[in-house]
Amino acid sequence: MSDGDGELEARLVEQEEFEPSDEFVEQANVSDPDIYEEFEENWPQCWERAADMLDWYDDYDTVLDDSDGPFYEWFQGGTLNASYNCVDRHVEEGNGDRTAINWEGEHGETRTYTYEDLQREVNEFAAALRDLGVEEDDVVTLYMPMVPELPIAMLACARIGAPHSVVFAGFSADALATRMNSADSRFLVTCDGYYRRGDALDHMEKANEGLGGVDHGVDATVVVDRLGEDGFGHDLKGNQHDWDELTDEHEGEEVDPVERDAEDMLFLMYTSGTTGEPKGVKHTTAGYLAYTSWTSHSVLDLKPEDTYWCSADIGWITGHSYIVYGPLALGTTTVMYEGTPDFPERDRLWEMVEEYSVDVFYTAPTAIRAFMKWGSQFPDDHDLSSLRLLGTVGEPINPRAWKWYYQHIGDEECPIVDTWWQTETGGMMVTTLPGVGTMKPGSAGPPLPGIDARIVDTEGEEVEPGRAGYLTVNKPWPGMLRTLYDNDDRFVSEYWQEYSNPDADEWVYFPEDGAKIDEDGYITILGRVDDVLNVSGHRLGTMEIESAIVGVEGVAEAAVVGGDHEVKGEAVYAYVILEDGYEESEEMRERITEGVEDAIGPIARPEQVVFTPELPKTRSGKIMRRLLEEIANEEELGDTTTLRNPEIVKDIQTKVGGN
Ligand code: WTA
Repeated sequence: MSDGDGELEARLVEQEEFEPSDEFVEQANVSDPDIYEEFEENWPQCWERAADMLDWYDDYDTVLDDSDGPFYEWFQGGTLNASYNCVDRHVEEGNGDRTAINWEGEHGETRTYTYEDLQREVNEFAAALRDLGVEEDDVVTLYMPMVPELPIAMLACARIGAPHSVVFAGFSADALATRMNSADSRFLVTCDGYYRRGDALDHMEKANEGLGGVDHGVDATVVVDRLGEDGFGHDLKGNQHDWDELTDEHEGEEVDPVERDAEDMLFLMYTSGTTGEPKGVKHTTAGYLAYTSWTSHSVLDLKPEDTYWCSADIGWITGHSYIVYGPLALGTTTVMYEGTPDFPERDRLWEMVEEYSVDVFYTAPTAIRAFMKWGSQFPDDHDLSSLRLLGTVGEPINPRAWKWYYQHIGDEECPIVDTWWQTETGGMMVTTLPGVGTMKPGSAGPPLPGIDARIVDTEGEEVEPGRAGYLTVNKPWPGMLRTLYDNDDRFVSEYWQEYSNPDADEWVYFPEDGAKIDEDGYITILGRVDDVLNVSGHRLGTMEIESAIVGVEGVAEAAVVGGDHEVKGEAVYAYVILEDGYEESEEMRERITEGVEDAIGPIARPEQVVFTPELPKTRSGKIMRRLLEEIANEEELGDTTTLRNPEIVKDIQTKVGGN
């Protein structure tokens, strides 16, 4: 099929700006352009607007406590419960029979949970967790695929004040163990398996192996039986419990939601950084929930009667904020899908949009690029007229993909929000408000109201429009991470070092993204400026992958860089030096790939493993990553005169080209 180029109308190719339709603006939750000024003039009190979207037990005393930057606190003195806000209050308001979760398995089986159903399930599982010994502030690890029990478990944890730490099901056993160790987590909820492209996958084997790597006692494991007769016959042993049996024992039980302080931890989410150690990003109850509710309302334009679908996995922050917490806090119907977009056919997502009459759809550019590649006949075969708004997240979207999405999915009627944010920011930061702003394909848009984002040079001075610089955030915001778990020092050094002036108590958050800004204040994100790759919208640290490769017997040294990839955005290129006595071979290549899959997961699998006798190094011995990237991209090489070993470059180039 074509690459999509031929499928874009010439008129759209030229067009640089798009406006939302009057019809959209009229019904939008936020449509008054004065909102930017209102937030600015009334900062930080403006954030009361977000806090007001929640139900509180005790009101907060202060909106923002900035006395100990960058350890900011929001809505201090207030108490609330996230599970009450996402579930009970909707039932109490008479909306218990509204659908909360529409779940679809890969084989087409469906499960529908009304808010009342969700309330019952969350209560029963909360009672079960308590019974297993989970106490307030115990971290519960959830290593689960896209089954309804995952959001139920998250909300059950929130109900009893036990922070959850969700580990993406595609991560390896090692990754699970590392995260449980880091968080001192003594409880695990997992699943026997799930379906991928028609096959049953054994998840329990990985979970058990991961448990074997936990270096402290594990008090209890709960296992969801997803596969039934397709299961792999793992016996539950010792302190392992079956989800259904456990919840049956607690049938009909109710657990009062625990009053949590605004700043109490809601969850931890591990993400990749520059070093090999994943970072445990800590989010708190009030600021996070207020911020995800507010952005779901203002950016995703969600209304309680909407059916909304975010195709991310709950194992990533996008799923936490915009499948679970934001949409449920607003009482919306959220769709969850277990499988892949091309099973059984490449129209699976469009079939589901039609089937559920989805109003708002949120996905990643990598998915859009795949849809483009597959061709427009797949969406064209379906009635997508229920759609009102589209969104993207996770990586830069090129204008061509944006326009394809606009034309073929949105029928030129739906605004698109290109939302820049991070695990650390909790929610969206830079994007147009769909009911207010002009859209410019390729540019995320201005910072949201109340967000002070700037593009600066290495000195911290704002750059001229059009010039590339670094994105910074100059004021705190409610959804921000509060620290890295058990590591305040790393929190400060990772995010607040570059541009802050601690002596003057000026704190500037540095997300490690390059960006530029135009005359209208629209920000275009250029990508990470640290050693973090963005593969299919997933953050992967090059150091983590390198240490996995170096762990393979026979490998002496490795350097990992990102190379451009048509669908994934970036792909992993691994340059590997073998120890004496080891020869480059297909077998060696496979062992390296397996090593990466075992340490991290299949998402980090190298696109190419290039064996080389040496890596290009500067005279001071530093690996020239820039060169390796240029080689991966088959670009013209920049300056090589500072290399200690320039002759190696040609050699590597030949290998990459010839592979
Ligand atoms: C990138 C995902 C361009 C960026 C929510 C950021 C984006 C990293 C966009 C965070 C976007 C996210 N345009 N780049 N709209 N959204 N990014 O923590 O590099 O998994 O720093 O959070 O993804 O990835 P994370």
